[in-house]
Amino acid sequence: MTAPLMLGDHAVRPPVVLAPMAGITNVAFRRLCREQGGGVYVCEMITTRALVERIPKTLKMITFAEDEGFRSLQLYGVDPDVTAAAVRMVGEDNLADHIDLNFGCPVPKVTRRGGGSALPWRRRLFGRIVSQAVAAAKPFGIPLTIKMRKGIDDDHLTYVDAGLAAQEAGVAAVALHARTAEQRYSGKADWDAIATLKQALDVPVLGNGDIWEGSDALRMVEHTGCDGVVVGRGCLGRPWLFADLEAAFTRGAAYQPVLPTLGEVSKILARHAQLLVEALEDEKHGCADFRKHVAWYLKGFPVGGDLRRSLAMISSLAELDDLLAKLDPSIPFPADALGQPRGRVNAPGRVTLPHGWLDSRDDETVPEGAETDESGG
Ligand SMILES: Cc1cc2nc3c(=O)[nH]c(=O)nc-3n(C[C@H](O)[C@H](O)[C@H](O)COP(=O)(O)O)c2cc1C
Repeated sequence: MTAPLMLGDHAVRPPVVLAPMAGITNVAFRRLCREQGGGVYVCEMITTRALVERIPKTLKMITFAEDEGFRSLQLYGVDPDVTAAAVRMVGEDNLADHIDLNFGCPVPKVTRRGGGSALPWRRRLFGRIVSQAVAAAKPFGIPLTIKMRKGIDDDHLTYVDAGLAAQEAGVAAVALHARTAEQRYSGKADWDAIATLKQALDVPVLGNGDIWEGSDALRMVEHTGCDGVVVGRGCLGRPWLFADLEAAFTRGAAYQPVLPTLGEVSKILARHAQLLVEALEDEKHGCADFRKHVAWYLKGFPVGGDLRRSLAMISSLAELDDLLAKLDPSIPFPADALGQPRGRVNAPGRVTLPHGWLDSRDDETVPEGAETDESGG
């Protein structure tokens, strides 16, 4: 059994984190994943300004189930004061037990303004955001972590500097999505960079990027020495990956993945839709939100185009049940879908930055208009 990941005083067993994914990791999806195995299950990203302004939609997104023992919340901010105010609010209103700060978003709308993955380049501003956030979290005993990318591109890497600055500021751990912003989600994550960061830091390092199976998590730990893994796209349409990860960390290389038949997958599909309807308190909205998951669940299964399309257009749970009844429950899990990328795999693209952004690393001006609901990491 691998050592637990320590986030402050909290021991995470197995050392697995569900990556925050906008539009995905809401209370319904987290429950589905939590039922499979241990770990930390991070809520969808919340922008600090919307939080301090108490925008109702934002507050609603911070919904945790009663049995979520370690409520984990990701915040995104570019202003040290607003970020600290948001962290204080999380503590005062008892909204979460852990806060992660997102510095990984590669979306052009965000980097163009100097936010997301562009921000660590401005090292003083980055340091101020993190240290003010840590200070604001401290009185409440909330461990604060950061999640970042390697840098803007291969010529503008920031992860070691940013990791050291975050450590000095007092973070509980640092997570690295081992791609540059330029790479977006393309190519392979550079696990060597995770190893480099692990060598450079004393605080726990979390590795992120391209864990598709339990065996990948073991390989990442072996390769990098990281203290825990962050899993994003690999669990899209596959919440049982968390059972695999738990088995892998408990039994080591001897573990065997348990692969569901199409009948078992369709039960999980139905439950996911039901949980979304409950979470959104509306059958139509729940079903609409569910549609994006269908293709991920069915990836690799021999299911005809018409049925796939109909499933991806459901507007009621009864309709979903009727369609699921048409699937052959005995079909085994498609082995060729294993170890394959899923979810976003878009092409690399030059990172759009504010004019003159790269010329000064020490400018502390807070970028304007860089806080939007666009997210990614
Ligand atoms: C649909 C989607 C939404 C995402 N939203 C966020 C986000 O809000 N915050 C964040 O830090 N990362 C976000 N990410 C990035 C993931 O957390 C993760 O870093 C990335 O997918 C790499 O890990 P993976 O290879 O396991 O998918 C998102 C990724 C996807 C695919």
